Amino acid sequence: MAVPTLYRAAYILNPTPDGRLVCQADGAIVVDSQGLIQACGAATELQDRFPAAPVEDFGPHSLLLPGLVDVHTHLPQYQAIALDRGELLQWLNTLIFPLEQRYADPNFAEQQAELFFRAALRAGTTTLAVFGPPFPEATSRAFAVAARLGLRVLMGQTLMDTNVPESLRMRLEDVEPALEHLVELWHGYDSGRLLYAVTPRFAGSCTLELLRLCAAYARRHGLLLQTHLAESLLEISWIAELFPSFPDYTAIYEAAGLLTPRTLCAHCLYLSATELERLRRAGCAIAHCPRSNLFLRSGIMPLQRYRSLGFRIGLGSDIGAGYSLCLLEEARYAREMTKVRALLAPEEIPTEITPEEALWLATLGGAQALGLDERIGSLEVGKEADFIVIDTTLLEPQNPLYTEPEHLSARLLYTATPAAIRAVFVRGKALLAPRDENGSRQSAIS
Ligand code: GUN
Ligand code: ZN
Repeated sequence: MAVPTLYRAAYILNPTPDGRLVCQADGAIVVDSQGLIQACGAATELQDRFPAAPVEDFGPHSLLLPGLVDVHTHLPQYQAIALDRGELLQWLNTLIFPLEQRYADPNFAEQQAELFFRAALRAGTTTLAVFGPPFPEATSRAFAVAARLGLRVLMGQTLMDTNVPESLRMRLEDVEPALEHLVELWHGYDSGRLLYAVTPRFAGSCTLELLRLCAAYARRHGLLLQTHLAESLLEISWIAELFPSFPDYTAIYEAAGLLTPRTLCAHCLYLSATELERLRRAGCAIAHCPRSNLFLRSGIMPLQRYRSLGFRIGLGSDIGAGYSLCLLEEARYAREMTKVRALLAPEEIPTEITPEEALWLATLGGAQALGLDERIGSLEVGKEADFIVIDTTLLEPQNPLYTEPEHLSARLLYTATPAAIRAVFVRGKALLAPRDENGSRQSAIS
């Protein structure tokens, strides 16, 4: 049997199921030839326990943590990054729908998927839940790129059948055959590294019939279902006009049978107490995308309230409303926006999240939201070895005076950029080679 490899780092940050982040100085993880974690702990102890294991030592300025988990983003919006067109509906109509029409060309889709997934890797993201192109062939090409690059991806064709330009609409009778085909090709690929996620865009661009079909299909095949819910006030009024017989937005999804523990709702900024209670009882998870919520002027999600209600919550870059794939920056905003929320609404649970909690949301929180926390999200024996290594010399300040673990996680949260990501591993396989002395790197991906 092949010997395992021991990866040693000056610090390891590891999220725990009870919401903490534990720091191990001079730590190591031991990874077997299948990419499973055999041990995690103090480097000297593990070197005694695994004397034959080859050692990869990341050196005195290394920080190792689980790969980042991005629970909500849009591949076909990569070229829309940073382009401002006002609030959500205007932005969709004037920028996003025309851009997404270009994915009718599968070659364009493939090129863009390459750029998108490589940007995710450079930012230290190892798992993404992705709204794919609105065309089946383009979605299949995007899966093929993810298959080759080695990331962990949950993705689905973005499905729409109303209120969008004609070329973006699926005919209802074509939806199930397209789903069947894509699921057959990609769901479960490479022992579950790629998964199909049923992806009806939102009630604004899907008929109730399409929502029903998606819900039934996802349930029958045990697939994740991702959509948007209650993102902006203008959106909510428009949806109320489209569905006048429903008491609220959530009721539309309930009527479609769409709300289950395998459902991930993005945004959820404006929900009444009864909607929250119904979503909570249904076991739905929430994708929190604070940068997108600012960029589109949507608002501020009451993160602490939702945490206190027990929702599973992960962070989403929400490209192209969010303007980069850097999930550490998303986590930074998640924390800063809890401060803003506390200033504006002191009557609510007024606490801020800590830097450790923000990093927890970007790792184990995301894995929980995707229902993947038995496989990824933390460095535990038996889990798959998805991890990243940070070069702490590229954090600020240089030569830090304060060096306790809490200072390290704060510096990571506030000052890391993709330049500080030194290596990225999925299932123990290096996907991004270490940088050379000039700061550039050869990709580890062929
Ligand atoms: N709601 C429906 N579609 C979208 C989208 O593409 N981005 C965001 N942020 N919200 C949406
Ligand atoms: Zn979105």
